[in-house]
Amino acid sequence: MPAFETAPLPGQDRYGAVVTGLAPDAIDDPDVRHALLELWSSKGLVVFRGIAGGLDTQVRLSEIYGEPEIHPMMEGTDIKTEHRALAPIEFREESGNIYEIDGKLLGGYLPWHFDGAYVDRINHGGILRPDILPGEGGDTGFIDQIAAYHLLPDPLKERIEGLSVLYSYQPDLTKAKFGPRADRLVQMSDLFRKGMEHPSVQIRAIHPMVYRQAGTGRKILHVSPWFADGIEGMENEEGDALLREVVGHVIRPELMYFHKWQEGDMVLWDNWRMLHCATGVPPGETRIMRRTTIVGDYGLGRREEKRAA
Ligand SMILES: [Fe+2]
Repeated sequence: MPAFETAPLPGQDRYGAVVTGLAPDAIDDPDVRHALLELWSSKGLVVFRGIAGGLDTQVRLSEIYGEPEIHPMMEGTDIKTEHRALAPIEFREESGNIYEIDGKLLGGYLPWHFDGAYVDRINHGGILRPDILPGEGGDTGFIDQIAAYHLLPDPLKERIEGLSVLYSYQPDLTKAKFGPRADRLVQMSDLFRKGMEHPSVQIRAIHPMVYRQAGTGRKILHVSPWFADGIEGMENEEGDALLREVVGHVIRPELMYFHKWQEGDMVLWDNWRMLHCATGVPPGETRIMRRTTIVGDYGLGRREEKRAA
């Protein structure tokens, strides 16, 4: 009998898989570990449904994919979670991010991004697990950038070949330059606000717009709308229009999967090829998630030359 079953994501067959029937004890089996590693590499996103063991299972599963990494924004802060490998993803009405978008107040909303675009090193992914789920909203969205590159029109593929994107840490979504923008900032969390002073975000980061997945050679359309400042060497109207066109091709419904959380879910994603977003909750709701971060670096990020004062 196989140690687990796999099925396609509901409503999305371009990438991803749903794993059911995995017992926490089976995680120690080398064949199971190998199969789960392969699944992540080929599919980019793995939804574990009805998996027992909570925090312990989450950390052990995460170790299949690499060492845990402490989230860079948590270094030097007094933020604590139940385990050193866990980062908090939390929305509480009194302290979380609240925006007005299209006339509606939304808590804990995060636009499409990959983690760490604003620094040169990019971690390999993570596993997200719910602790307290809201009564309404709170989905996590994903877009596969291998599928996104595949759907890009050939002339656009040619125009972006060899180009790179500049990124800077901009937590205020009313100032977002690319992708959807919030209409009004109502409240910003301390974590996001303090992030602006963090030494790691003072110089812009640069990442190639297209690169190949190690092992398979598949091309990845490596663009994070959130944090994007412009195209390197083309920070002008023409460059911004080109980047907007590319972003428009990435953020399209047929490439999206929105995960509706249930107790006993864990979601693993490959941050080197997936975008993700948080759809947000009505501000009166509470949403508490725990994530592990898988250490690593895809090795193609750079820092902008610091200008002489
Ligand atoms: Fe994120």
